[in-house]
Amino acid sequence: MEIAKDILYVGVNDHHIDLFEGQYTVPDGMSYNSYVIKDEKTAVMDTVDANFTKEWLYNIGRALDGTKPDYLIIQHMEPDHSANIYNFMKEYPDTTIVANAKTFAIMENFFRDMELEGKKLTVASGDTLSLGKHELTFVFAPMVHWPEVMVTYDSTDKVLFSADAFGKFGTPDVQDGWDDEARRYYIGIVGKYGAQAQKLLKVAAGLDIEIICPLHGPVLKENLAHYIEKYNIWSSYGVETEGVMIAYTSVYGNTRKAVEVLEAKLKEKKCPNVVVCDLARVDMSEAVANAFRYGKIVLATTTYNADIFPYMREFIEHLTERNFQNRTIGLIENGSWASMAGKVMTEMLSKSKNITWLENSTKIMSSLSKENEEQLERMAEELCQEYVAQSDESADKNDLTALFKIGYGLYVVTSNDGTRDNGLIVNTVTQLTDNPNRVAVGINKANYSHDVIKKTGVLNVNCLSVEAPFSVFENFGFQSGRDVDKFADWKKLRSDNGLLFLPKYINAFMSLKVEQYLDLGSHGFFICSVTEARVMSDKETMTYTYYQKNVKPKPQTEGKKGFVCKICGYVYEGDVLPDDFICPLCKHGVADFEPIV
Ligand code: FEO
Repeated sequence: MEIAKDILYVGVNDHHIDLFEGQYTVPDGMSYNSYVIKDEKTAVMDTVDANFTKEWLYNIGRALDGTKPDYLIIQHMEPDHSANIYNFMKEYPDTTIVANAKTFAIMENFFRDMELEGKKLTVASGDTLSLGKHELTFVFAPMVHWPEVMVTYDSTDKVLFSADAFGKFGTPDVQDGWDDEARRYYIGIVGKYGAQAQKLLKVAAGLDIEIICPLHGPVLKENLAHYIEKYNIWSSYGVETEGVMIAYTSVYGNTRKAVEVLEAKLKEKKCPNVVVCDLARVDMSEAVANAFRYGKIVLATTTYNADIFPYMREFIEHLTERNFQNRTIGLIENGSWASMAGKVMTEMLSKSKNITWLENSTKIMSSLSKENEEQLERMAEELCQEYVAQSDESADKNDLTALFKIGYGLYVVTSNDGTRDNGLIVNTVTQLTDNPNRVAVGINKANYSHDVIKKTGVLNVNCLSVEAPFSVFENFGFQSGRDVDKFADWKKLRSDNGLLFLPKYINAFMSLKVEQYLDLGSHGFFICSVTEARVMSDKETMTYTYYQKNVKPKPQTEGKKGFVCKICGYVYEGDVLPDDFICPLCKHGVADFEPIV
């Protein structure tokens, strides 16, 4: 078969193999590819599996058509490609083997009786070999998939001989599409070496490639961007397909029942893809490939011998040894007395990078309870939140909690009414322009500082750092400057405008002069120029999110009915929160309250 004018395919198809590499089922067989480049000098690219010596030598004989080969180029020493080196050299003893030093070292161990004195050409990465018209460049690709692997670029016909890369399970004469079996092949065999595959892709990106000749599967001639994109996703551990993969084991059917309930709920909620794998029954390599394909996975298993069910243990080990990362994971565990499964699964994945654990999980005691059904509903909601929001039909288009996602910092704004220094907490400070510098500060009109700044036209913005304790928020946020001297216990440090700046807990402050005022109903907006600016430390700025997660104490809502202020934790007890209610502590409105559940 002609690949290009001087390049012929001489590989073989194996339809009798049961397990590739001793573990992967290959229902559509396996091909071992080999190529001949005919030029002033003739080169054979790699050999084939040991079971195909005669067929391969016959193919080569036909391709050579009476000429003698000059070079046997060995890109990879795994026996599915190298098993016939010795047989080839017996048939064509005047051939020079072209390989790198690591390849020759491994070759000696595989073929202890083979004498190669004077028949070796050792190449380094980047070396070239001219066959006449064809100029070959060798590029090392260690660990894609063994350490000695190199690929070869023919700049004349723009062909990349890619070794194992871009290979797949199945023979080229079976029309089964490329993605699924290429994914299962890549994840199973090269999946651990994403960083090394990424390096190879970077090299490939700098080459003008029209044909890819891998050592397995079809020669790729069209739509190369598709294959390269897939390799880029797989080797960077990216999400290939949106959806949820559920991997489970079940001994008596109760864990399976939970999986079926979750699957139905996910489908109801418009989850774009739901793939369920019974790990005791599906092909393990397919389940592993699916885990790397989808962005979210749910692991469901039983406690077994104070551990987890063996198929789940094997599955997770397959994931972690292939550097599983960048995924959202949810857990369903089952245990009839001392449930261990959740703990074991969490520990097994604890070293995996960039894992987002689902906040909701399901813990079954023997069989599904009503509480379990609710837990599964919450898991489904959490897994599908983005899918529901992305859908025009199912999205809540008036969810004003979206505003809470705006990234706010937290600041103490200081001012002086002529007799007393004052300060308050605000989160509405933003730089509007840098030429000239203009900073906007929004202040609730109910706050005394609003009136003071409107009258005096000057203020300081103190940028709180993550060191600020809750007491700073209590002092400046939960009481009024009309009633108390908020700076009574503070060391007094002043900027050039005469106003105070905080002696600690800030990473910078700015002195501002009001240039414009905007009345926005509940708030007044001061648009200001900067008259002074100092950086106090390199500590991180306190954000609203950081405050909520790390500084604010948990509100005392136990035994109470009503609503709690998300800003300061104030509890309003009652069945209905009046629309115009303002938090007496922090002055935030009803939008910042949530029901106590
Ligand atoms: Fe196809 Fe790594 O051998």
